Amino acid sequence: MKLLHVDSSILGPVSVSRQLSEAIVAAQQAAHPGIEVMRLDLATHAISHLTGRHLAAAQGAAPETAALADDVAAGNEALEAFLAADIVVVGAPMYNFGIPSQLKAWLDRLAVAGRTFRYTEKGPQGLAGGKRVIVALSRGGFYGAETGMAALDHQESYLRVIFNFFGITNVEFIRAEGVALGDEQRNRSLAAAHAQIQQLEAPKKLAA
Ligand SMILES: Cc1cc2nc3c(=O)[nH]c(=O)nc-3n(C[C@H](O)[C@H](O)[C@H](O)COP(=O)(O)O)c2cc1C
Repeated sequence: MKLLHVDSSILGPVSVSRQLSEAIVAAQQAAHPGIEVMRLDLATHAISHLTGRHLAAAQGAAPETAALADDVAAGNEALEAFLAADIVVVGAPMYNFGIPSQLKAWLDRLAVAGRTFRYTEKGPQGLAGGKRVIVALSRGGFYGAETGMAALDHQESYLRVIFNFFGITNVEFIRAEGVALGDEQRNRSLAAAHAQIQQLEAPKKLAA
């Protein structure tokens, strides 16, 4: 069994999403002894933005430079690691109402026709189903349905759409919200998120 652990926060040791993704991985290691963990830190090992030259190389054009060849290879490696994983844990902060550009650059390398999705006469079909994706979300404010701010959330909504597009229906979110609203709120949000992480493996209650 394989787990891919991806982080994208640029805030290093003070990052909330890193703290939570680490706790999720530890909980998964406890639940699945011997699970192989693959690591991808997009802040320290960024995948560069997708360009037309990458797309041309993917269509079979010889890369013009060694640097481009290396970059194409790095993108392919990221795609294979994603496809090989049974569980994917993603640390995803909210930056400017969306996800970090580093995380978007990684997702752009995963969205490859014929590997993670394909278009059919009946519309798009995901090809990477069967995995479990657990996302640790951190946000300075609150964006729940009751706040009137939900339309500004392009973080959780986008991640749900893209993983669903890849065919993954088992996407779970651990949220630490309001972490910029003072120490008390931050501590409360972190404690709630850690409690949620401990419940991830608890047997789900059957609907009555
Ligand atoms: C560059 C930057 C942009 C941010 N933009 C938003 C935002 O649009 N909305 C929000 O609620 N919080 C925003 N925040 C606050 C972060 O979401 C919050 O600090 C969160 O903990 C970041 O996750 P991290 O600690 O894992 O990096 C931003 C923080 C940074 C550093």
